[in-house]
Amino acid sequence: MTYILHHTDCIEWLDAQPENSFEAIITDPPYGLKEYSIDEQAKLRNGNRGGMWRIPPTLNGTTRAPLPRFTVLDEDDLKSLYQFFFIWGTKASRVVVPGAHMFIATNTFLSHILCAALTDSGWERRGEVARLVQTLRGGDRPKNAEEEFSDVTVMPRSAWEPWELLRKPLDGRVQDNLRRWKTGGLRRDSPERPFTDIVPSERTPQEERKIVNHPSLKPQRFMRYIVRAALPLGEGRILDPFMGGGSTIAAAEYIGYTSVGVEIDQHYYDLAVNAIPLLANLYKETQSANSTEQQVHATPVTAPFAPLLQGQLF
Ligand SMILES: C[S@@+](CC[C@H](N)C(=O)[O-])C[C@H]1O[C@@H](n2cnc3c(N)ncnc32)[C@H](O)[C@@H]1O
Repeated sequence: MTYILHHTDCIEWLDAQPENSFEAIITDPPYGLKEYSIDEQAKLRNGNRGGMWRIPPTLNGTTRAPLPRFTVLDEDDLKSLYQFFFIWGTKASRVVVPGAHMFIATNTFLSHILCAALTDSGWERRGEVARLVQTLRGGDRPKNAEEEFSDVTVMPRSAWEPWELLRKPLDGRVQDNLRRWKTGGLRRDSPERPFTDIVPSERTPQEERKIVNHPSLKPQRFMRYIVRAALPLGEGRILDPFMGGGSTIAAAEYIGYTSVGVEIDQHYYDLAVNAIPLLANLYKETQSANSTEQQVHATPVTAPFAPLLQGQLF
């Protein structure tokens, strides 16, 4: 086993770590801040009446996973969000080596605040990865006036999930940083193909949800693709300070990278302990750890993306 898990608050935990101990961070934080509070988790576990979690309508007879409702955040919540990520960004930057990358999941409502806080805390923004996934967010007509404004959509139907890409400032040139710290760039998909920032994906498969019932579980194929890219020379340690059900750690385990996960909630921590070896074992017969490119490009491209991708990128 090449991973270590901690059941604790990552904010305090980060302060106790030595400087320069990780080569990459890959994480999916509670960016709404409220949705993982004790109150909101109680509402979710008690059937979710009036909380931040919304149960999307059943689709083709299939019950959908709960989604957090970010539009309920007010001005003060947004300020707290900035402050939280400013402090967290400072602490996270201390524990990674120069040139270390961070991939951090977000959403289109909040990504600007997250990026402002992280860049103000010293990280450089290096771009954004688009995980193409058809969600049920947005796309509705004006509430209670659907017929009158039948040609109107209030917000776009979201068909992608942004993952912000940041880097701790380099120590010298990229080549110097690579030699000294093993970081500074991203691992190529293959000699012919660089890591690419549009990634065809899928909703997290039922097979994975059955292993671990976490409301924000990310799919292994996507996680394996970004986890592999995060260490340019394939050397170093990955940190996920908001581990949830363990999808980052499982992907690192599959690739053969050493990793550390931190989770504050006892229930999710216990789920992750059981789930990580099972998730890491999935799809082994069809994929090799050296080619996550094969896996991600084998992901079925669903209807809205097919014209976009055809003949262009993949
Ligand atoms: C969005 S979920 C991550 C889900 C994960 N990507 C997965 O695929 O399972 C965020 C997780 O962070 C945890 N969390 C919230 N605040 C935390 C803190 N201060 N320290 C550690 N974990 C925290 C929550 O309990 C939740 O499980």
